[in-house]
Amino acid sequence: MAEFVTVAKVGDIPNGQGRAFVVHDQIVAVFHLDGQYYAINDLCPHQGASLAEGHVENQMVSCPWHGWRFRVTDGTWCDNPRIKTDSYPVRVEDGQIQVAVEQS
Ligand code: FES
Repeated sequence: MAEFVTVAKVGDIPNGQGRAFVVHDQIVAVFHLDGQYYAINDLCPHQGASLAEGHVENQMVSCPWHGWRFRVTDGTWCDNPRIKTDSYPVRVEDGQIQVAVEQS
């Protein structure tokens, strides 16, 4: 079971945006949507752009390079829902945003 790691404080990620954080050996994109936080693998599986820099709308982030769209809630690739990128549990404890990522 992965342990939760603090990546940011509440307020560090503006609503409707994402930020990338290194957790263990992974880069994780954490998104803030109306007080809820979601975390998926930051690296776009197409060519590795940072999904945290993408535009977020309707709980989907569009990759900043070629526009592939992923659901921030669970990492589903919206254009082919059989495929997912990794998503991670997120919680807020004492104003700290924490993400649980398995160590490889
Ligand atoms: S790198 Fe993300 S869609 Fe191409």
